[in-house]
Amino acid sequence: MTSESHVEVASDPDVTSSVQAVVLVGGKGTRLRPLTLSAPKPMLPTAGVPFLTHLLSRIQAAGITDVVLGTSFQAHVFSEYYGDGSKLGVRLQYVTETEPLGTGGGIRNVLDDLTADNILVFNGDVLGGTDVREILTTHRNSGADVTMHLVPVSDPRAFGCVPTDETGRVTDFLEKTQDPPTDQINAGTYVFRRSVIEEIPPGRPVSVEREVFPKLLSEGRHIQAHVDHAYWRDMGTPEDFVRGSADLVRGIAPSPALGDRRGESMVHDGAGVAPGAVLIGGTVVGRGAEIGPRARLDGAVVFDGAVIEAGAVVERSIVGFGARIGPRALIRDTVIGDGADVGARCELLRGARVWPGVQIPDGGLRFSTDV
Ligand code: GTP
Repeated sequence: MTSESHVEVASDPDVTSSVQAVVLVGGKGTRLRPLTLSAPKPMLPTAGVPFLTHLLSRIQAAGITDVVLGTSFQAHVFSEYYGDGSKLGVRLQYVTETEPLGTGGGIRNVLDDLTADNILVFNGDVLGGTDVREILTTHRNSGADVTMHLVPVSDPRAFGCVPTDETGRVTDFLEKTQDPPTDQINAGTYVFRRSVIEEIPPGRPVSVEREVFPKLLSEGRHIQAHVDHAYWRDMGTPEDFVRGSADLVRGIAPSPALGDRRGESMVHDGAGVAPGAVLIGGTVVGRGAEIGPRARLDGAVVFDGAVIEAGAVVERSIVGFGARIGPRALIRDTVIGDGADVGARCELLRGARVWPGVQIPDGGLRFSTDV
């Protein structure tokens, strides 16, 4: 509702000179368990590449090449996959917290690797379409200590609610409030003056949302909002992960990492799809996966090497690496862990989660007595 209040300026190509990016990727991703037991959330495959690749490509496309990854949980997975970042056209550095320091502590912890005056900070689990140069332009024009990207959402209660004044200046920061005064929420991308990062206490866990922003506001410091209506989704829950993946497959969510190969479904190398199988709703089938005859996949995310047997139905669900869904099973709004085996005719509905390697026998779990 207050989107008119943002500073309207055309983005300037020079705005990215002397800017570094920090991406926070050290979270445990508990809401996406069990998938995040074996892989960090930003490394889960989405439309054929780790989720983080979409974000790094967006950073690179904006002309920013100096990127620091703030890692903690399963830190080695990132460096083993991305190395020095040259394949994506960026220069990647890794800074690892031995104990997770939280979102604010994670930003403070990379300070030694920051030489630029202005630092773009990203939560590593946001799928977005905003041109980050426009956020930097707002930051430069307002002269703020911090510029915060905000998006309007229909239900702000699960997010940081951020009211602003008529000039777009942030007036309050209400993390997960039941009574939100505005629909504008913290979109998880910020520009910090380097000097503000120096003020974050070192060596202990700090939440940027619960500690740093409230403190800056209480001191009367200038936090400027950049509000827009570009595509935005926090990929932290199974529902959002499934939706975001489908939006990438169908071209609703932009990503410089994907070419024009968008459509109702995406089938990756080495996967087999039997005749009569139906793949719709932004379904993605990973490398080496097998889809049996007459299987119906609608908004399904099938990781590499998984098997969906004949006549099974998979809707708005994630099927982990190497898992198997038996013939005529029904999987809806469910997460199936890596290597799990769901027997024939089983029904798994409404938020069910099957842990890795679990075996459910044929007909072993149903929500009705229909055969
Ligand atoms: P949940 O456990 O499901 O809430 O997920 P999460 O652990 O990823 O937390 P959240 O979604 O709130 O984190 C937002 C972003 O900050 C994600 O990209 C996380 O990877 C990152 N993050 C969260 N905690 C830390 C931390 O302690 N250190 C670092 N470096 N990053 C973190």
